[in-house]
Amino acid sequence: MNMPRALANLNGQTMPLEEVRIPALDRGFLFGDAVYEVLRIYGGKPWLLAEHWQRFAASLESVRIRGVDLARLRQRMLDTIRAGRFGEAIAYLQITRGAAPRKHPFPADTVPTEFLYVQEFTDPYANRRQEGVAVITQPDLRWGRCDIKSTNLLGNVMAMQAAAEAGCVEALLYLPDGTLTEATHSSFFAVMDGALLTTPLRDNILPGITRGFLARLAAGAGVPFREGRLTRHDLPKVSELFLSGTTAEVLPIVRVDGNAVGDGKVGPVTKRLLQAYQAAVRDFVSG
Ligand SMILES: Cc1ncc(COP(=O)(O)O)c(C=O)c1O
Repeated sequence: MNMPRALANLNGQTMPLEEVRIPALDRGFLFGDAVYEVLRIYGGKPWLLAEHWQRFAASLESVRIRGVDLARLRQRMLDTIRAGRFGEAIAYLQITRGAAPRKHPFPADTVPTEFLYVQEFTDPYANRRQEGVAVITQPDLRWGRCDIKSTNLLGNVMAMQAAAEAGCVEALLYLPDGTLTEATHSSFFAVMDGALLTTPLRDNILPGITRGFLARLAAGAGVPFREGRLTRHDLPKVSELFLSGTTAEVLPIVRVDGNAVGDGKVGPVTKRLLQAYQAAVRDFVSG
């Protein structure tokens, strides 16, 4: 396997990613008792760092993993980026409740496992943003606290596998009443009647950092934006659709379940936001 270069830090120790060993009784492994974050590094600098750190703290607090020094962890991440001289990269961070005999309740006095790695990143969508991508829809089989960025991702994995087998880049998830929530590892936005529409922040979606940034960007670009419910049955009325996420950035969707979105081409609002996003990243890198 030809993996991109990666450098890790486990509980304060720096090492190549392939040398990291996690105890079998780690609760992250046994129960998915863990939360995580993924950041994009542009030009050696972590993008939207404060926002990611705020969400990381909120996830930890929601599952009551306590005693983690997040400022120290941030410094470890910055040191790892510098030590590996990473330019275009992603940083993955995960904190588990730690290793303990396998019992469901929280163990007393267990030290959380603090793991991170930084890995070179080549944008897989670089050439697809112009013509757009295809997605499918899948039932949302996940739990009731999707606002926590936990490593319990089996529902996401199953839906994404269905998308991959259909030759698609993502799956939009829907509830039993047809409400679209988000995608397996991205948020989504629709354009309806010229206005940008996305799912309201509740416990059934992750508060995407890119989603939040785009909402602010839309305001600056004079694009009307609102949060509201969109169902599978509304899709024929949608003129544009796109995914957003830390690695997806703004990724236009032109087909859903084999049907064209709008006229089947990347629309003007999506293009405008994509350009504004890329300009913001350029300013960040040069600033
Ligand atoms: C379920 C889910 N929704 C949305 C997103 C997008 O979030 P962000 O913009 O913070 O990357 C992700 C990112 O991994 C995700 O896993």
